[in-house]
Amino acid sequence: MASQSEKRVHIATFGCQMNAYDSARMAGMLAQMGYAQVERPDQADLIVLNTCSVRHRAEEKVYSYVGELKRLKRERPWLLIGVGGCVAQQEGDSLLKRLPHLDFVFGPDALGSLPEMVTQAARGKRLALTSLGAPARPVDIIIPAEPGLKAMVTVMTGCDNFCSYCVVPYVRGRERSRTAGEILEEVAALVDAGVREITLLGQNVNSYRDPDGGLDFAGLLARVDQIKDLWRIRFTTSHPKDLGQGLTEALAGLDKVMEQLHLPAQSGSDRMLKAMNRGYTRAQYLDLVRRLREMVPQVALGGDIIVGFPGETRQDFEQTLSMLEEVGYDFLYSFKYSDRPFTRAGRLEGKLDDETKGRRLVELQALQRVLGLQEHQAQAGRVEEVLVEGPAKHGQGLMSGRSRAGRVVNFPGPPELAGRLAMVRITQGRENSLLGELASATGER
Ligand code: 5AD
Ligand code: SF4
Repeated sequence: MASQSEKRVHIATFGCQMNAYDSARMAGMLAQMGYAQVERPDQADLIVLNTCSVRHRAEEKVYSYVGELKRLKRERPWLLIGVGGCVAQQEGDSLLKRLPHLDFVFGPDALGSLPEMVTQAARGKRLALTSLGAPARPVDIIIPAEPGLKAMVTVMTGCDNFCSYCVVPYVRGRERSRTAGEILEEVAALVDAGVREITLLGQNVNSYRDPDGGLDFAGLLARVDQIKDLWRIRFTTSHPKDLGQGLTEALAGLDKVMEQLHLPAQSGSDRMLKAMNRGYTRAQYLDLVRRLREMVPQVALGGDIIVGFPGETRQDFEQTLSMLEEVGYDFLYSFKYSDRPFTRAGRLEGKLDDETKGRRLVELQALQRVLGLQEHQAQAGRVEEVLVEGPAKHGQGLMSGRSRAGRVVNFPGPPELAGRLAMVRITQGRENSLLGELASATGER
């Protein structure tokens, strides 16, 4: 519970893991200013939203949340409200004009200026910082006091790919890699604080290049792999057009790099892939998957699919369905195409109505449920290394963790296993998890 004299902040995070990472950094900066974090907006003196604009619906959620804050501000006139992230970047200072109860607006590159903006806002100034480019004020490495077993570290921000449907290059700006030195320092500090699994983040990690010395992503993985007491490394997201032999070799050869890959295809139709500006064909994608599976047989693949891109015919859609069958994704995120500002697809002809998009999405998700279950059932009998996180959400006496491939594994076991690696024999594959029994426990935290 925060004491009366403490200032209190509520941070509301929308969207992707990049935003979750940035929110943690905001919390760290605000803690240095004396702000304690609170669970509920109505307990706060400062509310910061970290927003997402990747699809129309994500943006709507932000606006409805902001709308509700109007009442809070009436009740607590000293309350400060700031909007950061991708919607802030996209809309700029027009947000301040449209929403008089907002105090400040800041884009992803202005993160380091958050303390200053809060100070200014407290003096009654309303301001918007939304220029893209080199951050005016870099953010120090911030390690939470109790970081838990798993943590994320951003290796690069922005995107240069300009997929025709995507707003990210416009709101996150050009690709910029952090130096390997800074990344390694952050990972090492997290591991010192007790973290055992790191997820390296970037919109397109495969185009990582160390600005000091040119190390590529496979090289970076090899360096992170050497950090003592770190057990597991994951990374996301990979672009199929940039996934080279080096990275496949890292997946196959580096022990701490987990056998899991998020490799969004977006569509199984060459016509759509071209219109989406993805830079590969269906055959090239499938060939990549085949080579990956040859070198890393246990790899679990994840994907993203957009249904109902402008001009998508039933045949195009069926190509996507058949591709799902050929690939056998372990996990799949699927979305209805959504018009986004600035994008080329937004200006295309041949938009599909919402009902057709909805029907296709339902059909695709039904197929994936069957395919995903098959993938999971095929795991029965295997013995998997599981990093045990704690008691399972559902099911008494069950402990829960993730396998190397990232699958949720639940099994009967003592609570003391939390934070340790255990070998678990898989007995049953379910839709969203695997069920198993303890074979042996190994590493300790
Ligand atoms: N409409 C629907 N889905 C989109 N994505 C990105 N932009 C759009 C859009 N305009 C999806 C892609 C991407 C994921 C993060 O979000 O599948 O991989
Ligand atoms: Fe968007 Fe394409 Fe960049 Fe991913 S690779 S962030 S989908 S433009």
